[in-house]
Amino acid sequence: MENSIKHRLLSVAIFMLLNLHITIADLSSDTEALLKFASSVPHLRKLNWNSTLPICSSWFGVKCNDAGTRVTAVHLPGVGLYGRIPPNTIGKLDALKILSLRSNFLTGNLPSDIPSIPSLQSLYLQHNNFSGNIPLPLSPKITVLDLSFNSFSGNIPAAIKNLTRLTSLNLQFNSFSGAVPELNLTRLRLLNVSYNTLTGSIPESLQKFPVSAFEGNSFLCGQPLSLCSSSSSSPISLPSPAKHKKLSTGAIIGIAIGGLFVLILLAIFFVCCLKKKNDEDSVRSLKVKAVTAGKNEKSDDFGSGVQAAEKNKLVFLDGSGYNFDLEDLLRASAEVLGKGSYGTAYKAILDEETTVVVKRIREIGVAKKEFEQHMEFVGRIGKHPNIVPVCAYYFSKDEKLLVYEYMYSGSLSSLLHGNRGIGRTPLNWDSRVKISLESAKGIAHIHSEGGAKFNHGNIKSSNILLTKHLEGCVSDLGLAPLMNFLPTKSRFVGYYAPEVIETRKFTHKSDVYSFGVLLLEILTGKAPLPLPSSSQEEVVDLPRWVRSVVREEWTAEVFDVELMKEQHVEEEMVQMLQIGLACVTRVPDMRPSMEEVVRMISDLRPSESSDNRPSSEDNRSNVATP
Ligand SMILES: *[C@@H]1O[C@H](CO)[C@@H](O)[C@H](O)[C@H]1NC(C)=O
Ligand SMILES: *[C@@H]1O[C@H](CO)[C@@H](O)[C@H](O)[C@H]1NC(C)=O
Ligand SMILES: *[C@@H]1O[C@H](CO)[C@@H](O)[C@H](O)[C@H]1NC(C)=O
Ligand SMILES: *[C@@H]1O[C@H](CO)[C@@H](O)[C@H](O)[C@H]1NC(C)=O
Ligand SMILES: *[C@@H]1O[C@H](CO)[C@@H](O)[C@H](O)[C@H]1NC(C)=O
Repeated sequence: MENSIKHRLLSVAIFMLLNLHITIADLSSDTEALLKFASSVPHLRKLNWNSTLPICSSWFGVKCNDAGTRVTAVHLPGVGLYGRIPPNTIGKLDALKILSLRSNFLTGNLPSDIPSIPSLQSLYLQHNNFSGNIPLPLSPKITVLDLSFNSFSGNIPAAIKNLTRLTSLNLQFNSFSGAVPELNLTRLRLLNVSYNTLTGSIPESLQKFPVSAFEGNSFLCGQPLSLCSSSSSSPISLPSPAKHKKLSTGAIIGIAIGGLFVLILLAIFFVCCLKKKNDEDSVRSLKVKAVTAGKNEKSDDFGSGVQAAEKNKLVFLDGSGYNFDLEDLLRASAEVLGKGSYGTAYKAILDEETTVVVKRIREIGVAKKEFEQHMEFVGRIGKHPNIVPVCAYYFSKDEKLLVYEYMYSGSLSSLLHGNRGIGRTPLNWDSRVKISLESAKGIAHIHSEGGAKFNHGNIKSSNILLTKHLEGCVSDLGLAPLMNFLPTKSRFVGYYAPEVIETRKFTHKSDVYSFGVLLLEILTGKAPLPLPSSSQEEVVDLPRWVRSVVREEWTAEVFDVELMKEQHVEEEMVQMLQIGLACVTRVPDMRPSMEEVVRMISDLRPSESSDNRPSSEDNRSNVATP
């Protein structure tokens, strides 16, 4: 009797010991996996994951089970994670139930070890830029799968129909193609596959979901959308029209446009060849020479999507004094200026007097009508000496062009960071103050004229362009509000306010934050960009860096070395630094308005009336100062 009790106790003790050992090992492997994740995926906000601190109680975004033996949830929404997630990091957390990495800038394939974590129940990856297929297998326990607002492609895997616990499936705004699989899942309450490139008919089991769950897929049909034109309910596969006698009207239009497009290309090609023979190389019809520093970029042209019937539909905005048509534009010699957030910019030389910048926009989130109204609005707001005006636009299904005035002295970014070395003329402090003030005035004008809902959304040094006389002008006005996506390349994220990373919404105050980063950039000569030397694409979080230097010791060390040679400017630089730091305050409501920023910068030099600035404007803004 006693023996058997002893025996039992002993075995329980041994079991507990073993168990303890196993759980400790598991928590340490969880720790290791998370540390590996933090070190291999760069992030803008500090996570404070430190192995000397207890993981279950102190690590940001990490939750454990009640016993504190395993990590069960990781919540890292909007912390500025960017780049790829390598396998064997998060995927190693094999007790994980909830993973939220939404609203970051993650790219590349989703490693297959993440959705297959056997315990995984909720996976929130919306608002990133993951691409590639949904990796298989999927954990059978998944109840919530949100992959919306990414660049996933391929088919929606049929394996989803085996996820019997699924309650919510969000796949909207991706590039999924093929048919929607039959998903006879009794618990599924929320489905959204809108804005993909899905085709075919909606399966019966999903017809109970509303229209908005399916819209934005031009070739999807059947309840609750319009009836499929073909009597068979099998999905239409576009690339093989021969197989199907009956095509949807959409498909026919698509093919017709495609055919027309090929014809036009041939015609253009023919015309070009003739021209080349006639007048040698003087006009480089349509061919665009890539002159991006050193890199041999693919030849490209901005007219390839222009349809013949619309050849003369270049729409000029009121008051632009230009006189050319679309054909002139397409015939102009052009070179690539750069690839921006939303498309490629070309410099097009029409004749000796006329040079314009053509922006070819990759994707626009609005329909033509809305776009036209928006451009009229932008045209009105853009009338200000410190804003680069939009002169004209072209909108067709395949091609969206915006034509801007060309600015001769390039961008503030290239003046600050380009060609550091021998032969460089540093940008002096006077010019930096002047350009800061002028750009601030441009942005303040956008805010006051555009109203509370209209903002710039893309303030950065490469969008501050300079006239012949080095006057700062804000460019790219009106583009950000048209886009569905936030650009996620690491060279943009350094200007985003923390709340933009979290909510994806721009406001006046987020413009102020970006402008604050710009001021810090002007002062420090450092760019909030990934360092070209580092393989990690590590972004300098400029506000954080400046605060850390300034906190430790208020020294001149933060300032650009090029400015240190100048006399009697340090006091102004310190004041400007304070303006910059006020703009990058984390709490949006604590940031000054753009109008206040203009006033503060003007107040740096209250006595100076008219050295190299347009005096009337300055006098006006100085009225309040005694
Ligand atoms: C972790 O915390 C310890 C003590 O708080 C500190 O000395 C150490 O620098 C921290 N390590 C990292 C990587 O932050
Ligand atoms: C679904 O599960 C069944 C049974 O477990 C299996 O045979 C089938 O291959 C699965 N289907 C998919 C598409 O994974
Ligand atoms: C869905 O499944 C239920 C039971 O699991 C079955 O009765 C029903 O016929 C199925 N519906 C479809 C459309 O396959
Ligand atoms: C689907 O997503 C789109 C875009 O976010 C949204 O407008 C629509 O209301 C959603 N529909 C449903 C049924 O959730
Ligand atoms: C997302 O990634 C795709 C390719 O992976 C790229 O073409 C696209 O420009 C990216 N989108 C954004 C908004 O960065």
